[in-house]
Amino acid sequence: MLKGEKILITGVTGQVAAPVARALASDNEVWAIARFKDPDVRTALEAANVHCETVDLMEGGLGHLPRDFSSVLHFAVAKTGNFDADLTANAEGTGFLMHHCRDARAFLHCSSTAVYQPNDHELLAETAPLGDNHRPFGFLPTYSICKIAAEATARFCARHFELPTVIARLNVPYGNDGSWPALHLELMRRDKPIQVHANPPSIFNPIHEDDVIAQIPRLLEVASVPATILNWGGSDVVSVEEWCGYLGELTGLTPRFDATTQTIESTAIDTTRMHELIGRTRVSWRDGFRRMVESRNPELLKKDSMSE
Ligand SMILES: NC(=O)c1ccc[n+]([C@@H]2O[C@H](COP(=O)([O-])OP(=O)(O)OC[C@H]3O[C@@H](n4cnc5c(N)ncnc54)[C@H](OP(=O)(O)O)[C@@H]3O)[C@@H](O)[C@H]2O)c1
Repeated sequence: MLKGEKILITGVTGQVAAPVARALASDNEVWAIARFKDPDVRTALEAANVHCETVDLMEGGLGHLPRDFSSVLHFAVAKTGNFDADLTANAEGTGFLMHHCRDARAFLHCSSTAVYQPNDHELLAETAPLGDNHRPFGFLPTYSICKIAAEATARFCARHFELPTVIARLNVPYGNDGSWPALHLELMRRDKPIQVHANPPSIFNPIHEDDVIAQIPRLLEVASVPATILNWGGSDVVSVEEWCGYLGELTGLTPRFDATTQTIESTAIDTTRMHELIGRTRVSWRDGFRRMVESRNPELLKKDSMSE
């Protein structure tokens, strides 16, 4: 774990950054930025010793923040569906942030495997072609293009400011704070269909929040100029069909699938570079999914599924 650092975290009201901020705040001076539209979320973070400042990355103004952060963890993402707004917040916002924090020891830019063009069931390496994979079915129309644009900004700033940078393409994060697998569980609870791609199985690399937190120090260590780019996901490849089946075993609920071409195709990753640079993840997917149900929906767990 990191200790004694002054860390800036963006996107701290979101699913991925919130548990990271809470975990790091015990041993570091953690500053966190977001728009904080829900004051209760800010109050809870401040109670966990996270220093919160309101910043809208659309506006670019970071002047009131200190500049002496040793590390920056950039998790914010805007998904309004408006290209102009989302390019401003994600691509330009990354530039303003890196300019402001250009003296940091390391900058982690959280990207997404949504930057890849899916290719059947190929495990996508960092050199795989990029594409607009979230747009065709209208799910998050600006997401892939804006994540690619933000990566380009991060690459430029790494070189221009000589700011050691790591661009980590995150796959399917999950844990206690909501996630795609948690949505699947909710659909199962309500006996609603779960979309899977018509080219089965729909494979991904789910990563538990404990692994996200545990791998951050190593990610910062491999930050470089030019930027290091790597995939970031669980070491296990798992399909939506398989994880929903397991959620069914844990709860007694039965998943119903809707096979369609109008959903995300398999986007599983080649973990070779990730394993070389930051190592394997530790939380096995079954253990992680059981813990997710235990923390979010303990009432759904069958008695024989509880951990000892
Ligand atoms: N969740 C996933 O399944 C997944 C998968 C792959 C990659 N990722 C990547 O992981 C990172 C975190 O994702 P997430 O799911 O945690 O996101 P999220 O839950 O949607 O949260 C987005 C965060 O960005 C902040 N934000 C949005 N617009 C902003 C603006 N204009 N100015 C300042 N802050 C703004 C939001 O805060 P306010 O609204 O309070 O401002 C919020 O804290 C992102 O880079 C995402 O691309 C996520």
